[in-house]
This record gives sequence, structure tokens and C-alpha cells, in this order.
Amino acid sequence: MDTMAKKATLSVTMVFMILFATFQGCFPAASQPPNKGNSIQSAVTRGSLLFPVTGNVYPLGYYSVSLTIGNPPRVFEFDIDTGSDLTWVQCDAPCTGCTKPKENLYKLQKQVLVQCKHPSCEAVHSPGSPHCETPTDQCDFEVEYVDHGSALGVLVADNIFLSLTNGSKISPRLSFGCAYDLKNPGPYPPPSTDGVLGLGSGKASILSQLHSMDLTRNVIGHCLSGEGGGYVFLGDDLVPSSGVVWMPMSSDAKHYLSIPAELLLGGKPTGIKDLKIVFDSGSSYTYFSSQFYEGVLNLLRKDVKGKPLNVVNDPALPICWKGRERFKLVSDVKNYFSTLALSFTHSKNAQLQLPPEAYLIVTENGNVCLGILNGTEIGLKNFNIIGDISLQNKMVIYDNEKNQIGWISTNCNRLPKLDCSYNEDVLQPYAASFGILEEHFPATEASGKRNKFSKRELQGKE
Ligand SMILES: *[C@@H]1O[C@H](CO)[C@@H](O)[C@H](O)[C@H]1NC(C)=O
Ligand SMILES: *[C@@H]1O[C@H](CO)[C@@H](O)[C@H](O)[C@H]1NC(C)=O
Repeated sequence: MDTMAKKATLSVTMVFMILFATFQGCFPAASQPPNKGNSIQSAVTRGSLLFPVTGNVYPLGYYSVSLTIGNPPRVFEFDIDTGSDLTWVQCDAPCTGCTKPKENLYKLQKQVLVQCKHPSCEAVHSPGSPHCETPTDQCDFEVEYVDHGSALGVLVADNIFLSLTNGSKISPRLSFGCAYDLKNPGPYPPPSTDGVLGLGSGKASILSQLHSMDLTRNVIGHCLSGEGGGYVFLGDDLVPSSGVVWMPMSSDAKHYLSIPAELLLGGKPTGIKDLKIVFDSGSSYTYFSSQFYEGVLNLLRKDVKGKPLNVVNDPALPICWKGRERFKLVSDVKNYFSTLALSFTHSKNAQLQLPPEAYLIVTENGNVCLGILNGTEIGLKNFNIIGDISLQNKMVIYDNEKNQIGWISTNCNRLPKLDCSYNEDVLQPYAASFGILEEHFPATEASGKRNKFSKRELQGKE
């Protein structure tokens, strides 16, 4: 009797400890030491998806993930874009403007066509409505990006093969675009991806579709490494339980739009304020509209005065400096530049720190260039864009359930450890199918000497 009672007590204690350990172990990105060992997953009913990312800001200009879609299943590479909703893939319908050889395009089959009367067609055209001559028409779409690139095609619903972080495999039929007319006005070549993964909060996005099927929470996050690579997740299992700086999202926005921000330099106010900022992983660089851009230029020119830096022309970006010797890394110039920060004024103490790595690149020519660009030049009016360069080395979380955006500094080269929630057997197929669980992803090498201002950015005609 005595023994049994003790046993029972012990068991309860163990359960408690295991649950506690699970919390510690499931949120390693928040700087807690990762917990090893298999334990019970906490009472999360909906799942999460984790994708390793490849790419870099320079010289490649984008970050991407691989997704397996269609019947027969094929792997396609998608540019990750929090600035737009619709996911699309280059499509053999046949295609004009596609950058991939015909045999590598998604094959359009009649049975996957979405009809015009279907709610997902409505979602793609929201807030407008699709133009249907008859309800059984195919559902056409067109997306335009702020860099004036566009994709036109037809909406399809096909299987996307996904592994949840708990080890379960799912292949829901999701709607996405089969794009057969692509335009890229330049001056830079389009990214070498097969399509775009729209991670916006609109109804047309894969995230919204998974959420409406009750498969994941309406939350996404990304962690883009300054050394290249990183990861993206859908669902909230990987959101750290502490240490995240949260800021409310601006309401009624169709993008991930911040509340007004003030720019700080070296911790001090600069007078540059009321910036409305869109978080856009589809943009390589950060864009400030002309007056703010001019302000930033003036501040940095003052900052650079007296330092061993001279203005130089570099094909990579408009504003560059050279040193006495070629620079190799941004860390070589770190002492010459101050840390900028965006302070979100109505949100207590929410600051997004922008150290030199978050706004400078070192080019192939060994010069240092400013990765903040003139947004007015690409037609941005009322808002500014925070692009990949300024989102690096942080986990950035877009919580559409609580309408907030959060960030936390972390090492994005290390995938969050998930071994707390499932055992090796379950982990293995997941690891195999995505080729993950290496400690480091090698930075993607540029396939050629290319760089871009931006590519797949905000959709719509603002
Ligand atoms: C994983 O999560 C999904 C979605 O919550 C659930 O349906 C499935 O049963 C879970 N699988 C395992 C192996 O726990
Ligand atoms: C930004 O671009 C606009 C439009 O091209 C131009 O009028 C303005 O002078 C530029 N601002 C700066 C500071 O270069």
C-alpha cells in the first residue's frame, strides 16, 4: 500500500517534470538550452510545419524553400514571400516568360482546375470578385508585385505533401496558381526559383487554407541567417514562450504592416518618425520612401565622416564606400557604422535593432554598400518595406490570431530542436524527406554574378 501510494505520487511528479521539460525543450530558440530526450508533447491540437530555407541576401537576393506538389509528386523551389498571399508555380500550359525548361514545369491537368464559382477563386480575387462568364469557367489570376513583375495564370487545387513536426505526413489539396505568363521588367534577372510561396495572411494563402482546415494555427515565422539558409515555419509550436518582442499589427492591413515607427541612431531619436513598415521577406533589401531615405542617407553620411571610407561606384547597389583595403565581411566595417533601430512608438519598448549587418552588404568588389534603398523610386508611397537584409538573424513571427508581429535574436543556422516532441523513429522519415537536422546549412552559392534590388514583393496596385 505504502509503496503503491509512493509510486503514484512519483508518477505524477514525473509527468509534471516531463511536461516542464517539454516546454523548456520545445522552445530552444528563446535561448534556453535545448532539452534532449523524448517526452510527451504538450496539449497542442494543431500541428506545425517546418521547412529548411536556402538562399541569401547577397549575391543571390532571395531565400527559398522546396515543396513537393502534384501527381506524380515533384519538388519545386519557392521564393518565400510574406508580402503576398498567392502561392504559384511556373506552369507548362504552355508558358511565356517561364525561366525553367519545359520538362521542369508543373504540368497542368484538367482535373486540377479550380472553377470560377469556387470560394478559393473568390479568395484570390478578394476584395474584388472573379470575372466569371459561367460559374464553371476556369479561375484566372494575375499578381503584380511592387517591382512591376507579374505572374498570370490559372488557379488549381492539387496535393501538397507536407510533414508535420509531430511526424505525421499529410497531403491536403490546396489551391495555388499555375502561372504561364511571367513578366520581369528588370533591370535584374528574375530569381531562379520555380515560383513564390505567398505567406501573407489573406484568404488565398496556403497558411489560411491550412488554418481553415484546422491543421495549423494562423501563425508563421521565419529565421533567415546572415550566413545564408535558415528556416520557415507554419503553426505556432516553435514560437518561443519568452523573450519575443511583440508589436501589434496595424489593423485592416492586407500586408504585415507595423504601427508607426521612429528611427533611432545609436539609441537616440533622429526625428525620422511615423514610418509605416511592411515586413516583406520577398524583398531582398529595405526600402524607405524618399523623405525618410534622404534622412537616413544624411545620418549615415555624417556617421561615415572622418572614417577611412570613400564613396565609390559599385554595380551592386546605388550607395557604396570603399576602404583602404578590400572588405570581406560586414564585420570589417562594423566599427564605422552605428546601430539603427526602429522604435514602435505605441508599443511599449518594442524596438527592432538594425546593427550594420542589417543594412549593409559587402560586395564581390570588396566595397560596402547601403542595403536601404529609395522606395519612391519603385513607386512606394505611403509605406516602407523591411526586407530580408533587415530581417536576418532573428526569428520573426507573424501571429494572425493575436494580430501581432514578434521578433527575437537567434542563430538561424541551427534548426529548432524538435526531438522533445517525438522519438527517433518518427523523426527519421521527416529528416530524410527534408534533408534537415544538420547543425548548419551551407550558404547557397550564387549560380552566377547576380544581385537584385527586389523581386517578389507586395502584391496589388497600391
Ligand atoms: C500530429 O498532429 C496532427 C494535427 O494536429 C494530428 O492530426 C496527428 O494525429 C498528430 N500525429 C501524431 C503522430 O501525433
Ligand atoms: C528617391 O526617388 C525619387 C523618385 O525617383 C526621387 O525624386 C528622389 O530624389 C529620390 N530621393 C533621393 C534621396 O535620392
